[in-house]
Amino acid sequence: MLNIGVLVSGNGTNLQAIINNIYNGYLARCMIVTVVSSNQDAFALQIAKENNIFHATISKKGCKTIKEYDKKLIANFKMQKVDLVVMAGFNSIVGKDFIQEFKNKIINIHPSLIPSFCGKSLYGMKPHQAALNYGVKVTGATVHFVDEGVDTGPIILQKAVKIKDNDTAEILQQRVMKKAEWKILSKAIKLFEENRLVIENNKVKIL
Ligand code: GRF
Repeated sequence: MLNIGVLVSGNGTNLQAIINNIYNGYLARCMIVTVVSSNQDAFALQIAKENNIFHATISKKGCKTIKEYDKKLIANFKMQKVDLVVMAGFNSIVGKDFIQEFKNKIINIHPSLIPSFCGKSLYGMKPHQAALNYGVKVTGATVHFVDEGVDTGPIILQKAVKIKDNDTAEILQQRVMKKAEWKILSKAIKLFEENRLVIENNKVKIL
């Protein structure tokens, strides 16, 4: 059984997609053992509660240093014996201590085709607005391993989504979540659980 710890910040639609795929058997050998939110008001915490999943809020605001933040996160995830950390709509930044503790065991879903529209200031709705502002014809989502950069780790899966005339950032975000994010995040978890992901020269090979 693969123990998954999920980091969230918002509505939790990606968390819900993972839960659905555990229930429908696609992720039968996976279990979410903890959900940690950076934001105490995140609806994702309600989703965890409704599904009887251990949940907590660990906010950077409540910590004096990034080291303290990492320490709290590590303690929670080690206590729950987490094998894979999944950042699902997580809008905070973890420190190097956390990343080293779970080296090559942290994956993140980003709502663009990295390296486009990603990086420190481009999260949540912003990547979609940036894609519309630029006038690209396709955008999409990327699942990648997390390293010490922002959205810079080795790419696991990507899925493209067409941009339509008159799209707003909100409409585009919903399409990218529905047609890309909710699908490729669970697929990446399954590949990890099946030990089919190999990192060579900062690139991911799928066995
Ligand atoms: C998603 O587009 C996610 O990629 C981004 O925030 C949005 C909401 O995610 N980081 P969720 O509904 O909280 O999973």
